[in-house]
Amino acid sequence: MLSDNIQAALNKQINEELESAYAYLQMAAEGDRLGLPGFANWFRLQYGEELAHADRFFNYILERNGEVKLDAIAKPDIADETPLSLFEKALAHEKHISRCIFALKDLAKSESDHATDVFLEWFVTEQVEEEAAAQAVIDQLRLVEGSPNGLFMIDRELAARQPETA
Ligand code: FEO
Repeated sequence: MLSDNIQAALNKQINEELESAYAYLQMAAEGDRLGLPGFANWFRLQYGEELAHADRFFNYILERNGEVKLDAIAKPDIADETPLSLFEKALAHEKHISRCIFALKDLAKSESDHATDVFLEWFVTEQVEEEAAAQAVIDQLRLVEGSPNGLFMIDRELAARQPETA
């Protein structure tokens, strides 16, 4: 049985993950607008990952016999972006999500909810990867400093991203 506090926090995280998906979908549209199909592909796949993250929380709440309560999803703050600003926003967003996961984990620990604490472990690892992935593209974009050739190469690399199978 989930405590009211933990159930509310897990429901809030469903909302956070869906907001992430929504933001990445807008970023995919920005990539397309910029004429960068690789960027669009990368963000579109990230959108799918965020939906899968929301599903994990959804399924976990139901598994623990809790109640799912969906909330409104905020409009993404993504418009007129550059290739660099897209990934800077992605990184800032992932750092925010990491803080949300850590706060959830602290709450689970404070209530000795071991099952939720263990459930959240996967997300702690995932956030390390997500921050690193966004940071790696930022580093590459800074290296090429807007050179069209460099941008073309990065776009080709991002186009090669495939959906995760697990
Ligand atoms: Fe679901 Fe990108 O964190």
